[in-house]
Amino acid sequence: MKKLLYVLLFITTVGQAQTIKQYPEPVTFTAEEDRQNMLDQLGVKAVRRGPSGDEKASNHANYDESLANPFPELPDLLTLKNGKRVTTPAVWWTQRRPEIAEDIEREVYGRLPKNIPSVKWTVVLTEKEFVGFTPVIAKELVGHVDNSEYQLINVDISMTVVTPANAKGPVPVLMMFGRNEMPSPVQPNKEDMLALNNALRELLSKDPKIKEILEKYPAYSPLARISPTFGGPPTREQEIIAAGWGYATIDPASIQADNGQGITRGIIGLVNKGQPRKPDDWGALRAWSWGAARGLDYLETDPLVDSKHIGIEGVSRYGKAALVTLAFEQRFAVGLIASSGKGGTTLHRRVFGEAVENLTGGFYYWMAGNYIKYGASEGKFGAMNGSNIPVDSHELIAMCAPRLTFISYGIPEKGDARWLDQQGSYMATVAAGSVFKLLGVKDIGVSNDYKTEKMPPYNTSMLDGELAWRQHDGGHTDAPNIKYFLEWADKMMKRSLSPGN
Ligand code: GCU
Repeated sequence: MKKLLYVLLFITTVGQAQTIKQYPEPVTFTAEEDRQNMLDQLGVKAVRRGPSGDEKASNHANYDESLANPFPELPDLLTLKNGKRVTTPAVWWTQRRPEIAEDIEREVYGRLPKNIPSVKWTVVLTEKEFVGFTPVIAKELVGHVDNSEYQLINVDISMTVVTPANAKGPVPVLMMFGRNEMPSPVQPNKEDMLALNNALRELLSKDPKIKEILEKYPAYSPLARISPTFGGPPTREQEIIAAGWGYATIDPASIQADNGQGITRGIIGLVNKGQPRKPDDWGALRAWSWGAARGLDYLETDPLVDSKHIGIEGVSRYGKAALVTLAFEQRFAVGLIASSGKGGTTLHRRVFGEAVENLTGGFYYWMAGNYIKYGASEGKFGAMNGSNIPVDSHELIAMCAPRLTFISYGIPEKGDARWLDQQGSYMATVAAGSVFKLLGVKDIGVSNDYKTEKMPPYNTSMLDGELAWRQHDGGHTDAPNIKYFLEWADKMMKRSLSPGN
């Protein structure tokens, strides 16, 4: 017996040694160490510190509009690098857009690696639920990323897909970035639900009589759902389902951690085999948007989903991710880009609220390593700032054209902080309009002169074009704009509002 144990021990030790040889352990850095590694790769010696979001702090961000535009000239959307004007859609598609995409990838969000492994989706749970008063089919999915090349990192993308049960045909679906739960707030949360289901499955396998009983008296089933909840304003999900759409929630953290120490793990770490990034490698925002595109791959195979009308939504950091997704993944037909701020729709060249130096500081891992150069005060490239970035956010918005692009904000009085720089986003939206027009669709309906156009009062709907703007009177959320978004998208997609059409 003892001998056998030794033999077993030997085999496992040899096995482990082989695994370690084949796969060097992932690098374990603190966020600070990882950032420093990138500074060293870039030859950056010193960086400026980002301003504080606390308006009472002595180093608070600039909130004086007269000081917000030290770099008033934006890169011209419709001028090629060789100085020629872009006057036809063909030149936009074949020359100008690729130029812009290249700069945005290299300098701002990072490139997708060439060798990203494939994702295999599995439906782990299918349930009949209610969202509001509408019966739905809710599915919980796991997208397993093939890690046969580097087994020390496992990535399982977590997504929930909910579609109205009574639809007469495939429905448009809005994919939302955020932690996913199966619907119905009264049911146990995801972890509890899994534990219950597992226990029940075991019980059922042991005793078929229990199965029979549960089928006979469904109301007594421990897994029975409580039907519609009453009272309270409708949730975003209820509004979406009531409008005849479906929704999917995809969990960014299951794709890539929202921190710097995680950058040698998650999908970025898996592709890099646990090693730190190179300066033009993808950051978390691009990784999240890659994950959304993989979610879309699944949705294209789901017969309940109208795969030509899939949207992407996100608020705040996920608003940034939603914009990056819509810009780079042209199979998404529509986007709701909410309160996205710097690194989203707000201009990098603006100095108002959140600064480039905040994104090169604590949030550096959202971006490509190269982006840190623009917060440098000393180093190989010298001192640089937002005005040195070869592109700006109006160009990222323009990459979404002519697809449906809804830019949403709330108001500072209700908590959609000035930090987000609504005005800077409005300027970028105004400027981006010229590309929507070039491609034969409508923008928000004003001139494209971002230097003079004034942001309208909140609750003004600029929803007559494929590019749309609305600042609602709520806080740091897009909930108050959801109904405007759905009406606008339906109108633009030439659908009626009744479910299933
Ligand atoms: C911070 C950050 C923003 C971000 C926000 C969020 O405020 O500075 O860029 O949008 O967090 O995601 O909540």
